[in-house]
Amino acid sequence: MFFTSLKNLVKRNSLLWGEDVAEAYHGAAARDMQAHWNQFIEPARRRHPIDYTSVVDFACGYGRNTDFLLPFSEHVTMIDVNEHNLQYCQEKYAGNPKVDVKQCNGYDLGKIPGEHCSFFYTFDSMVHFPPKILKAYLPEFFRVLKSGGYALVHHSNYTAGGPNGDFKANPHWRNYMSVDMFANISRAAGFIVAEQTMHAWGEVADLDCVTILQKP
Ligand SMILES: C[S@@+](CC[C@H](N)C(=O)[O-])C[C@H]1O[C@@H](n2cnc3c(N)ncnc32)[C@H](O)[C@@H]1O
Repeated sequence: MFFTSLKNLVKRNSLLWGEDVAEAYHGAAARDMQAHWNQFIEPARRRHPIDYTSVVDFACGYGRNTDFLLPFSEHVTMIDVNEHNLQYCQEKYAGNPKVDVKQCNGYDLGKIPGEHCSFFYTFDSMVHFPPKILKAYLPEFFRVLKSGGYALVHHSNYTAGGPNGDFKANPHWRNYMSVDMFANISRAAGFIVAEQTMHAWGEVADLDCVTILQKP
């Protein structure tokens, strides 16, 4: 029953960022990446002693984040639910020994072994995820991260639409989540919440948050 409900959520909400938005989303987003990196990522990652030996770029899309992670990472595992995006990344990074591309089912990381990575990273994806999917993934992030490793998670801080609203009616398609809810879900999964920084997205102040987690 629980997994059926997650599978239905994945069917309804998770397959919206593939080939149909190759230019409208992926092309445009790639051009914004330097600005996003400067605002959301670089200051946060600099504040923590992150080990970049084995990095996961979760919900990777077309790999614009991987492009920025690769110069200082020894290895990046790209994970996504969308087959088109995975195929795109397989072709884009073909022959690059520092990159692996793996598919997930939309609510767990079954194919990724425990303690697989030293840094778990996800940007501009979980802001859209239904809370139930996000909640299902957090124990998985904990499982695949090495002890002492950090996770950087970009998520929504938007609650005005309520938990049962249509996220596509919310500003920038942000799903229902808050800084405090995310911290509680992360702690329940076993993480230490090292830092939470709220950010504007576009014209909306404090719409988003970058949370840095550590596995004890
Ligand atoms: C808005 S795009 C962002 C892609 C990439 N992170 C970026 O910044 O360009 C959202 C991505 O999340 C993926 N996605 C959506 N729901 C997912 C889920 N439940 N599990 C894994 N990936 C998911 C989509 O396939 C898509 O690649």
